[in-house]
Amino acid sequence: MPTKFRIAVVAGDGVGPEVTREAMRILSTVGEATGIEFKFREMPIGGIAVREMGAPLPPAVLDECLNSDAVLLGAVGAPEFDSLPREKKPETGLLALRHALGCFANLRPAVFVPAIADCSPLKPSIAAHTDVLIVRELLGGLYFGEPRGSRNDDPTVCINTMIYSEAEVERVARVAFDQARLRSRKVTSVDKANVLETSALWRRVVVRVAAEYPDVQLDHVLVDACAMFLVTTPSRFDVILTENLFGDILSDEMAALTGSLGMLASASIGGTVDLYEPVHGSAPTIAGKNVANPLGAIASAALMLRHTFKLEQEARDIELSIRAVLDAGYRTADLQNGRPGKPVSTQEMGQLVEQRVASLIDRRHAYHAV
Ligand code: IPM
Ligand code: MG
Repeated sequence: MPTKFRIAVVAGDGVGPEVTREAMRILSTVGEATGIEFKFREMPIGGIAVREMGAPLPPAVLDECLNSDAVLLGAVGAPEFDSLPREKKPETGLLALRHALGCFANLRPAVFVPAIADCSPLKPSIAAHTDVLIVRELLGGLYFGEPRGSRNDDPTVCINTMIYSEAEVERVARVAFDQARLRSRKVTSVDKANVLETSALWRRVVVRVAAEYPDVQLDHVLVDACAMFLVTTPSRFDVILTENLFGDILSDEMAALTGSLGMLASASIGGTVDLYEPVHGSAPTIAGKNVANPLGAIASAALMLRHTFKLEQEARDIELSIRAVLDAGYRTADLQNGRPGKPVSTQEMGQLVEQRVASLIDRRHAYHAV
């Protein structure tokens, strides 16, 4: 196994730089404790890239990402860029990056953490035991479908196209079934098959792929019902497999009900280089104040260790450390809202996780040394 990994860090806008700094801190700590070298190359993406280099994904940045072993992204977008034409928007940079890397499967795990049960809008009795993995198709559907834009150059009528091929559905379905085998062996495919042709195709292909996984249970839920089940009986889900826009919407809902959008991590896999990013956005109103929750970015670093570098043990160390810090009562602003706990800044939260990760790894090494 190579002991050197090259990570492109595109921190982006808003709170992106603050939270990715903490994720890099954790990766460096894992590196020091294990002898693996993580080499970071930091570059702009999104609004800051527009300002500094004239494009939301400058070609040199994309090249560096393509030549890395993994990409760590913070967030993109800020109100000042909202009025730019679409090709200059920060979000366009992120979508172009996902597309160029080819990562078609976006994994968004969400677990109910008892220590922050009071942050969930749901009653603990409903939220308890929730442990869901959303597998969101990331390169198709309305996000990329053509035609798009104003119809016949008439700016008063706009079009977006929902389009899916069997091949696109099949490859992401395989990822969902493979992931289910590592979990509770249940896939819920979410679509709108009662109305949309793309969803009918989606369902047909998912059923076909499921035949190759007789050990995995499959059910189908319409997207509107899924939105409801997520707040009434979230523990009924294991893996949720769904198309791009449905997955975008359901994952924010999922995040809110496990406590805070700041906690959720994501891995975008299946292409030439994997991309890791917290699910939260750039949160411009709290940017630069050292108050953002870095746990989503840190948990994304854990996913990077698991999926790209095959360092399962170290990924677990990070996840356990996040739990331990929350169990000890430490909370960033998003987890407080007048509730009890020990208030900490972005940086302090990162340092607390770092200490625990280092001691978990050291303890294991000491154990193996005797
Ligand atoms: C997400 C975000 C992005 C998306 C935006 C920033 C383009 O909301 O990763 O969920 O819609 O995919
Ligand atoms: Mg989103």
